[in-house]
Amino acid sequence: MHQPKHILCIVGTRPEGIKMAPLIKALKREPWARVTVLATAQHRGLLDQVLSLFDIQPDVDLDIMRANQALPELTSRLITALDQKFTELSPDVVLAQGDTTTVMTAALVAFYRRTPFGHVEAGLRTHDLDNPFPEEMNRLVAGHLAKWHFVPTERSRQNLLREGIADTAIHVTGNTVIDALLEVAATDWPLGIPLDPDKRLVLVTAHRRENFGEPFRAVCRAIRTLVDRHPDIEVLYPVHPNPNVSEAAHGFLGDHPRIRLCQPLDYAPFVEAQKRAFLILTDSGGVQEEAPALGKPVLVMRSETERPEAVDEGVVRLVGTDEARIVAEASRLLDDPDAYRRMARGVSPYGDGKASRRIVGVLRAALCPDHAPAVREP
Ligand code: UD1
Ligand code: UDP
Repeated sequence: MHQPKHILCIVGTRPEGIKMAPLIKALKREPWARVTVLATAQHRGLLDQVLSLFDIQPDVDLDIMRANQALPELTSRLITALDQKFTELSPDVVLAQGDTTTVMTAALVAFYRRTPFGHVEAGLRTHDLDNPFPEEMNRLVAGHLAKWHFVPTERSRQNLLREGIADTAIHVTGNTVIDALLEVAATDWPLGIPLDPDKRLVLVTAHRRENFGEPFRAVCRAIRTLVDRHPDIEVLYPVHPNPNVSEAAHGFLGDHPRIRLCQPLDYAPFVEAQKRAFLILTDSGGVQEEAPALGKPVLVMRSETERPEAVDEGVVRLVGTDEARIVAEASRLLDDPDAYRRMARGVSPYGDGKASRRIVGVLRAALCPDHAPAVREP
């Protein structure tokens, strides 16, 4: 009997928790794998919420988050702390998901230590280092240091091939977010927030760094104008705790009777809010993946997206941060049932709920071929 392979799974922020949870659970069921979960806690409260929903207790917690952390100090603290833990734990493989500072530094430290790195949600690109900032740089770095690239779609595979990544290192698996979403969305969860049943719900989230300042103020003005022009809508906006976002959101929107600002919702109530929403306005990556699968139209308040598949399907629209454009595009969906129906079709270009299973299959075949089934994962 071979020694189990030691797989170190890294989680730092809310979306990493959501997207790594199904993979961590699937790996823990594998007899050939010994799984250690390392939380950098780049996000403290938001990550804790998610891990507790999925019943995952980190084995190691670096407790990195500081209030209003700047990117250079966050990066340097992560590199030092991760290096120390990688030395202690001596994993055979490091896995991380996405494009946060946690992921970029985990890939870099794994590279310095010559530990193979697997990148989950690989190959997303806008080809613009300023949008999203700093995520496009983070995923370029992680992407060029990875041994295994688990890409959600054929488009993301093509992005990596164009950058010279070997075809044999790229595995099209779907996005693990859909695994998590389907599990959670199968149940109806209490929202915990009283909403007016006679009003159509517009759900809002925003947190991108490149939108801080005037673009975010324009978004807030657009939301106010939209609500004032449509007496039959109510806005629910769970505000991201980054002070650059929360101070402006409360300052611009806090006093409107039909704009409900709340703390970030736990994942299950947030999925419930997406299910109940008529329309979603967001700059989030994960929401662009989830909402189409739930049949909800999404207007993305960014100039570019690394997730063009749903835009091509016609169920997500890029509207930027121009006040008039946001109001016009949202009003069209609120006022024109045909335009709405065309965007509320319920397609899921990012996954079918089996991404984690496929990733485990690739790792099993690479690390422990004795355990690999004769047939490929579906
Ligand atoms: C980070 C990621 C971004 C990801 C987002 C998901 C980087 C550079 N950014 O952005 O890619 O899309 O997470 O939400 O990796 N805070 C809290 N409690 C929390 C979390 C955050 O108070 O649980 C506050 C703190 O003041 C913290 C600040 O938000 O310093 C910013 O957190 P940080 O992780 O640096 O950036 P995000 O904007 O959350
Ligand atoms: N989300 C959540 N509660 C909220 C807002 C978002 O659980 O109040 C979930 C959402 O469903 C998605 C993920 O958080 O799965 C997206 O995280 P975020 O927008 O913070 O980051 P991004 O995806 O942009 O990196």
